[in-house]
Amino acid sequence: MSRLVIVSNRVPAPTKEGAASAGGLAVALKAALEQRGGIWMGWSGKSSENDEPGPLSLTEEGKITYALTDLTGKDVEEYYHGFANRVLWPICHYRLDLAEYGRKEMAGYFRVNRFFAHRLAPLLRPDDIIWVHDYHLIPLAAELRQMGFKNRIGFFLHIPWPPADVLYTMPVHEEIMHGLAAYDLVGFQTDHDLENFAGCLRREDMGDAIGDGRFTAHGKVFKGGAYGISIETAAFAEFAKKASSHHLVQRARQSVKDRDLIIGVDRLDYSKGITQRLDAFERFIVNNPAHQRKVTYLQITPKSRSEVPEYEQMQRTVAEQAGRVNGALGTVDWVPVRYINRSVSRPILAGLYRLAEVGLVTPLRDGMNLVAKEYVAAQDPEDPGVLVLSRFAGAARELKKGALLVNPYDIEGTANALARALNMPLEERQERWRKMMDHLLVHDVSRWCQDFLDDLVA
Ligand code: ADP
Ligand code: G6P
Repeated sequence: MSRLVIVSNRVPAPTKEGAASAGGLAVALKAALEQRGGIWMGWSGKSSENDEPGPLSLTEEGKITYALTDLTGKDVEEYYHGFANRVLWPICHYRLDLAEYGRKEMAGYFRVNRFFAHRLAPLLRPDDIIWVHDYHLIPLAAELRQMGFKNRIGFFLHIPWPPADVLYTMPVHEEIMHGLAAYDLVGFQTDHDLENFAGCLRREDMGDAIGDGRFTAHGKVFKGGAYGISIETAAFAEFAKKASSHHLVQRARQSVKDRDLIIGVDRLDYSKGITQRLDAFERFIVNNPAHQRKVTYLQITPKSRSEVPEYEQMQRTVAEQAGRVNGALGTVDWVPVRYINRSVSRPILAGLYRLAEVGLVTPLRDGMNLVAKEYVAAQDPEDPGVLVLSRFAGAARELKKGALLVNPYDIEGTANALARALNMPLEERQERWRKMMDHLLVHDVSRWCQDFLDDLVA
C-alpha cells in the first residue's frame, strides 16, 4: 500500500495540554488517519518572529507523523486571515457582502501555497498518494506539478462550493478554478456542490463534465465527485453511552432536572446562524408559554478566528443577544439560555448531546456539519432526542428522513419545529432516529476516507 501524505492548513497535532480541536476537518481527518497512518503536513498555528520560518517540526503519534511549519506574521495575515478567511470562506458560504478583496492578500495566498509546496517536496517519495484538504490550499497541486511531481494528488473541499454567479464576483476565480484542474480528483461534500462546480466550469466555457465522473478544464482531464464526510459513528455512540456517568455530565443532568434541554454546539462563526437561532428560541418561548421555565437552551461556542473583524464583531453580538434574551425571558429561578464560550472535551460533549432532548443545528450554509451527525450518534436508542436541522447544511441531504428540517432564516418556522420536537411522541422519535443512525453506521468516516482514496487511485 502506498504511503498517504495529507496536507491541510489546520492540523490537530498533539499538544501538551491535550486540548480538543474544534472544527470538522481536524476531528474527522484525525479519526480517518489514526487507522491508516501516514504523514500529516500543515501549519503549526504559530508565526515565526522573523522572515525565515525554521525547519519542519516532526512529531510521531501512533501511526501518524506530523510535519508542521511555522509561517511568518505577514503570511498568516495575508494568506490565512486575509484571503482564506475573508475571501474564500465568505464566498463559499454565499456571503458576497462579507468578502474583502485585497491584492496583497490574494498574492499572499498564492505565495504561501508555493511555500507549502517547497516545504513538502523533500518529504515526498514517487509513489506517495497526496491528499490536500480545504480552501486554504487549492493551488498546492499546481505548484507541485510545476516542480515536476507526478504523484496522484487529490483534493477535498470541506466547505460548500457556490454557484457561478457567486464565485465569479471573486477577482481571482479563474486562477482558483485553474488550481483545481491540477488535481487528479476533486471531492466535494454533496452532489449539489459538485453541480455548482460543473456550472462554474461551463459558465465561462472553461470546461465541462465529460461523463463517468470526469471533467475537462484548462487542457486537463480530472475526476470530480461527492463524498460526504462523517464521524466514527459506532465509536462515538459508545463514547456517549459511557460519558453519561462522567461526573460533569451528571452535574449537568442534575442542573436541568425537570427541564428539557436544547443543545447547540458550533464554532463562533457567522455561517452557523447562531443569532437567528437565539431569535427562534425566544420566539418559541413567547409562542409557547407552557414551556416557560421548563426548558434550557445550552449553546457551546468556542471563539474562532478572532483576528478577523467579522468574527470579533460576532463575539459581541452573540454575547449581547444571549444576555438580552435572558433579561427578557428569565425569571428569578430560570435562566433560559446558557452560553459557553469554550471548547469542551469530546467525552463531555458526547455526554451532553445524549442528555439533550433536542439538537439544534441551524447553519445558514454549511459544507456538511458534523455536530448534527455527532448528536444523532450520541442518542440513547430507547429514548432518543430530536435533531432540528437546517436544510442548508450538507448533512440535511443525508438526514432528511429523520431530522426536522428547517429554514434557519424563517424564525417562526424554526420556533414551530422546536415546539414539535419537544412534543414528539416516543415512537416517532425512535423511528426518525433509527433511520438516521442506520445511515450513519454505514456512512461513517472510514467509508468516506476509503471511497475517496479508492477513486483517487483508480
Ligand atoms: P466546522 O467544521 O465548521 O466547525 P462541524 O460541525 O462540521 O463544523 O465540525 C465541528 C467539530 O468541532 C465537531 O466535531 C464538534 O464536535 C467540534 N466542536 C465544535 N464546538 C466544540 C466545542 N465547543 N468543544 C469541543 N468541540 C467542538
Ligand atoms: C472548518 C474548515 C476547516 C477549519 C475549521 C476550523 O471546519 O473547513 O478547514 O480548520 O473550520 O477553523 P480554523 O480557521 O480554526 O482552522
